[in-house]
Amino acid sequence: MVGRDQSQGVLRIGPNHLSYSDPQAIKYIYGHGTKCAKDTGYEIQKGTHYHLADVVDKPDHARKRKILASAYAIKNLEEWEYKVADKVERLIRQFDKRCTAPLPAGQIVPNPEDANVNYRMWTNFFTVEAIADIGLSLKLGFLDRGDDMCEAVNPDGTKFTAPFRESLYTVNEKTSLIVHTYDWFKTLDKLSSYTYGIYRRGTKAAKAWDGIHLALTLKRLEAYRRGEKNDDFFQALMEDKSGQPNNLELGEIDAEINIMLNAGSTTTAIAIANVMFHLLKNPKVLAQLREEIDRAMDPDETIASYENVKNLPYLRACLDESLRIYSPTTQNLGRVTPAEGMQIIDQFIPGGVSVSMSAHVVHQDPSIFPEPRKYIPERWLGEEGKKLQPYFLAFSAGARGCIGRNISYLEQTVLLASLLHRYEFALPHPNFEVTRQETMNYHVGPLPLKVWRRDIPGMEVSEKV
Ligand code: HEM
Repeated sequence: MVGRDQSQGVLRIGPNHLSYSDPQAIKYIYGHGTKCAKDTGYEIQKGTHYHLADVVDKPDHARKRKILASAYAIKNLEEWEYKVADKVERLIRQFDKRCTAPLPAGQIVPNPEDANVNYRMWTNFFTVEAIADIGLSLKLGFLDRGDDMCEAVNPDGTKFTAPFRESLYTVNEKTSLIVHTYDWFKTLDKLSSYTYGIYRRGTKAAKAWDGIHLALTLKRLEAYRRGEKNDDFFQALMEDKSGQPNNLELGEIDAEINIMLNAGSTTTAIAIANVMFHLLKNPKVLAQLREEIDRAMDPDETIASYENVKNLPYLRACLDESLRIYSPTTQNLGRVTPAEGMQIIDQFIPGGVSVSMSAHVVHQDPSIFPEPRKYIPERWLGEEGKKLQPYFLAFSAGARGCIGRNISYLEQTVLLASLLHRYEFALPHPNFEVTRQETMNYHVGPLPLKVWRRDIPGMEVSEKV
């Protein structure tokens, strides 16, 4: 049921769910100090144990967030940088192999066979491998092999292999189709294995996905039990900084690894594909960004150092403008009002009502972002840009906002700077459009690109990584 509520800017998107478009509602629904909690849409998705993203109880959330806070802290980013740099290097090896001759001056459409790099796929391998290394110190080999077949294990211990992306994205697609039925979700989820199409495929994929994160959890646990003290999220899950064990049950550890591999790779991969697409559609922006990056990197530098590129204002503006136009998470992130009800802007909302705001709605509001469909990174620069931050909802806001945004910026910044410094890219043709599908995330389809080495003074084109 979709209908207009009494006040402007509120849409009833379910029998008990109000969706807001007035940005004033952000602080009431998501801000620090909100009286709302995550709504039942999260609770029903939980497995044997809650993880950081689906736990509803506020003290339990605070406990989990405290355990992981040090791992995600901004001061630790430098510790993860070498892991990200390693993945950039592996990606570059693959792109180097696929480089074609430069596009002749004046030619804008490459030969069809030259658009031989599926940027979306390769950079998704990059984000999965980066988080598997940062989180578990595991090397999955996707970037070296060019596929994402992953070890997996059934609860009875039998082993199998399954494709990482297809398994995860199929589960998410199925979930997105039935999760908003709330009370019916569990029943529909069970029944879906007896049906067909995406529902049946989703059930099969859920087994594969559960097998993948469990296998990776057990592998890392084995290393931990052997006494390996790696610097990664897993270590933070097992012990605090002084070595005191956190004594988490295996189910909780597995749940945290599940969300880390999922949230930690999917959204950043979408963001990385989107920003490249926007840049190639906006050559003047791309040229300006390159100038900024080239000034920050030595001509013969292959992998950007985070220190040198993390504060480049135009680079950050290009990333944020892309995250604004196509936020990787556009779905309404439901929160529930407290039992006694609460005020939202100038209206009293009774207790137990789901309330939310889609990032897409505020990001497309022309009174905040004039010409909202246009890719204009300049809007994020200087003092005027700072004023827009309260309306930037790509990572949500408040205590339940994204814990991984700094890691995401580390990955996006180092990768994009390194690639734009080394290569030229071209779309298959100037009118090329990517396909998009909204599931639990706003996914991007294949992005086939022609890639060739740049010829800039001081850069050794034959140099190998
Ligand atoms: C461009 C990249 C990213 C975007 C757009 C993004 C977006 C979001 C959003 C919108 C939320 C709120 C979800 C909700 O309310 O249900 C969230 C939460 C979360 N994100 Fe991210 N995320 C990104 C990258 C990452 C990375 C790299 C990680 C892990 C390394 C991560 C881990 C998480 C976790 C664990 C939560 C739950 C936090 C909590 O409830 O305390 N995210 N993210």
